[in-house]
Amino acid sequence: MTLPRTDLGPERETRVRAPGKVNLGLRVGAREPDGYHPLVTVFQAVSVYEDVVATPAEGFSLTVSGPQADLVPTDGSNLALRAARALAEYAGIDDGVHLHIDKAVPVAGGMAGGSADAAAALLACDAFWGAGLTREQLHDLAAELGSDVPFGLMGHTAVGTGRGDVLTPALSRGEYHWAFAVRDAGLSTARVYTAFDELAGAGSPGPDSDLELLHALSAGDAHALGRALRNDLQLAALELAPDLAETLAVAQDAGALGVVVSGSGPTVAALGRSRQHAHAIAAALTAAGVADTVLTATGPVPGARVLTSS
Ligand code: C5P
Repeated sequence: MTLPRTDLGPERETRVRAPGKVNLGLRVGAREPDGYHPLVTVFQAVSVYEDVVATPAEGFSLTVSGPQADLVPTDGSNLALRAARALAEYAGIDDGVHLHIDKAVPVAGGMAGGSADAAAALLACDAFWGAGLTREQLHDLAAELGSDVPFGLMGHTAVGTGRGDVLTPALSRGEYHWAFAVRDAGLSTARVYTAFDELAGAGSPGPDSDLELLHALSAGDAHALGRALRNDLQLAALELAPDLAETLAVAQDAGALGVVVSGSGPTVAALGRSRQHAHAIAAALTAAGVADTVLTATGPVPGARVLTSS
């Protein structure tokens, strides 16, 4: 499908926003023959956002802005560009697109920033080209791009199984307030899983469900949620970045209801009693010098959504 030339004016623009996430629970089983680990995870989308803007272009190109923009690859390996190409191929679109990413989610931080970019790029290209894919088609493309990309589309709160890509929405009441301690030096997801294998060995437990956590969410009980936070990858992340222990301790000393490494790390997520308390934890993390950047955010928030399209 080739769009009529009149539709390719420079004023056309589609802007999509997608959230980062925190894994409230992450239970990981032993590596399977396909190289992946089965997991049961509870995702919460948080108000740290990636904006992806699609504009007309001959081929496929990408620019990035934001505090860690220089850490993002802009070549063909970029997940948002791969998402655009995958959607074009799937929908039989012959046109190109330029994507601009305005990044706020930490790079390689365990908050699924790259996955949010890909989710936003899928939705942006779908709207930009008028491809009209269904939610299910977008989800399937997302799952091929990466384990966390489907949740970037869905947002809110969800239980992820399989590789984290098989999603069931979960009931969640209330608003949760977070402080995030971010490191400039990210951790590779693949390396963290390898460290997990070495630590857990053959005795690695199979994933089970996070009932306590789900009860806390459905009751809107932040204290119970804080107690139930759990991440099986945390020891592996600490093995690769031992000084994260101090970050965890500072957040705990600041009275966080719960502290956990987010996903494969190294971002540390600390749950506050209130928005003010999350800000106080953030201030303590900054004062202790245990993070390169400190963010505060609330969750849950919606998944990728079109902000404007012309
Ligand atoms: O799916 P994604 O590309 O985000 O995964 C990156 C790497 O993390 C994979 O290549 C794999 O080594 C590891 N991984 C895993 N088990 C999962 C998800 C990711 O071992 N459930």
